[in-house]
Amino acid sequence: MVPDSDYSLDPADWEAFEATAQQTLHDAVAFLQTIRERPTWQPPPHEVKKRLHEAIPMYPTPLAEVCAQARRDILPYPTGNIHPRFWGWVMGTGTADGVIADLIASTMNTHMAGYDQSGSLIEEQVLRWLCQLFGYGPEALGIFVSGGTVANILGIVAGRQAKAGYDVRAEGLAGRPQMIIYGSSETHSWIYKCCELLGLGRKGYRPIPVDEEHRIQIDALAQAIDEDRAAGHLPICVNGNAGTVNTGAIDNLDQLADVCKKEDLWFHVDGALGGLAVLSDSLKPRLRGIERADSIAFDLHKWGYLQYEIGCVLMKDVHAQKAAFQTSADYLESNGRGIQPNNLEFAQLGIQLSRGFRALRAWMAFKTHGVTGISRIIDQNVRHVQYLAERIREHDHLELLAPTPLNVACFRFCPPHLDVQALNKLNREILMRIQEAGIAVPSSTLIDGQFAIRVANSNHRTKQEDMDILLDAVIGIGEEILQSDLPR
Ligand SMILES: Cc1ncc(COP(=O)(O)O)c(C=O)c1O
Repeated sequence: MVPDSDYSLDPADWEAFEATAQQTLHDAVAFLQTIRERPTWQPPPHEVKKRLHEAIPMYPTPLAEVCAQARRDILPYPTGNIHPRFWGWVMGTGTADGVIADLIASTMNTHMAGYDQSGSLIEEQVLRWLCQLFGYGPEALGIFVSGGTVANILGIVAGRQAKAGYDVRAEGLAGRPQMIIYGSSETHSWIYKCCELLGLGRKGYRPIPVDEEHRIQIDALAQAIDEDRAAGHLPICVNGNAGTVNTGAIDNLDQLADVCKKEDLWFHVDGALGGLAVLSDSLKPRLRGIERADSIAFDLHKWGYLQYEIGCVLMKDVHAQKAAFQTSADYLESNGRGIQPNNLEFAQLGIQLSRGFRALRAWMAFKTHGVTGISRIIDQNVRHVQYLAERIREHDHLELLAPTPLNVACFRFCPPHLDVQALNKLNREILMRIQEAGIAVPSSTLIDGQFAIRVANSNHRTKQEDMDILLDAVIGIGEEILQSDLPR
């Protein structure tokens, strides 16, 4: 019996702990190795849901027992994005080496506010690699955050501080002109959360119409800026999309950079979906102008294939980043030496003070696969979507609903003589049956009011044949539904 004065949460028996840990690792590896043999998605069965709904555990259960329950009730029922045929929303797969990175990071449980420690060196190193890949110079830095939403918001916060013309952090917004942020009508919904959080209200976002390829109309943007200035508003920032969530459309980033330069606006790029295309020599030219952005947000848990959560924002000028987030407090001041020789660098570059070691995942991925290994998969994802699009074009009863400039395809099953409502209903039913049968997980969107089955491929496990399996299912299930009555 451990005396009360020496109680700890460490295992009483390290050998038993190690055996359980080995077993858990073994289960994890087997799960990943056999992932293709399982349904893409399966909901937790009723009895599992019941078992997971339990009273608060007041007393200890042996770790081996808890792990056995996790193996039975938790591990088999993820969203499914680690499966080769998951292409819903924009999710990444995670990697096998990411499991090891997380094990090491979790073991160290290092505090990533800064400090003189290996974690700080790793985060700065990976940020510098990323800056280089995006075409930024030595004045640039950034920070790892939970995901694209937060990364985008940090970029806009820095833009607001830089372009407001006064110290927003000190003075707030009261009595000042309405600030306006611009972006295309295809911009992801984070932009609204951002305007709300920044106190601008939703009216602080000015959605600009898109052209037939779903890219922002530059003339309409310029006109909106003029009109807002004439109305006494304060334009501060333009968001360019490096891959829209709906269709993967890439705004003309070079022209947006020109507009921002002329109008003295902060140029932010949302590359959550497509920004990492800069890793690929063949895709990079499509993002020309991204290197002129003041801030770039992207997600390593999407097209970087890493485990959740890891998003990143890079800023062209680290001083602007510091100007937006730096604070001071007596209890955080450096004493010039010791464990904290300077003022907690990463806490000064974003909003979090306590931060985890997500950077290790990215470091390990770059080291184990190299830029060439990652970019090869990025190219492959795009090729597979182009293959899917080609097959759709060739089939009389399939239709692409939008261009496919990157790794996203929106399409539908469209037998003749059905109106839009019937087609929408038919395609929704096809999608639901495909998901529920565990065949694959695409998601859906509306393109001009037309229901689209949407494939966003940031999956390093997908093979070309998986696209065939999806299309065969769409056609097969579509015809099956037509032969029965369309469900209401
Ligand atoms: C274009 C785009 N921007 C931002 C986001 C939000 O990123 P996150 O889900 O990592 O917060 C997404 C998510 O799908 C996205 O596709």
